[in-house]
Amino acid sequence: MAHEHPPRFEEPAIPQVIYTVPDGSVHVVDVPVGQSVMDGSVRNNLPGIVAECGGSCSCATCHVHVDDEFADLLGEPGDEETDLLEFLDGADRRSRLSCQLVVTEQCEGLRVCVPEGNG
Ligand code: FES
Repeated sequence: MAHEHPPRFEEPAIPQVIYTVPDGSVHVVDVPVGQSVMDGSVRNNLPGIVAECGGSCSCATCHVHVDDEFADLLGEPGDEETDLLEFLDGADRRSRLSCQLVVTEQCEGLRVCVPEGNG
């Protein structure tokens, strides 16, 4: 006979991501592991990340600059992301598309700066 285990309630990790938005204000947002930096912004109605394509890496309106100390945690941009960033006004070596930045437990305190002009 099947023995039923009680459901396990593991606390999901919810790192805090710190967004500096175009008006200079700073917002600390809980972004669950597995969601993107773009998701965290959109779900909290922060200004600056437009995310026109909904996260499919085709619009570049989710552009952010990532603080250097976190760059290694986020892996290398893929080919599509690199192509979009290459032709984006205001992009620099810290630029990433935030829909491609999936939050992990190591992202606690991740700082991103949202530039003006995202769509
Ligand atoms: S939301 Fe469109 S490229 Fe990120």
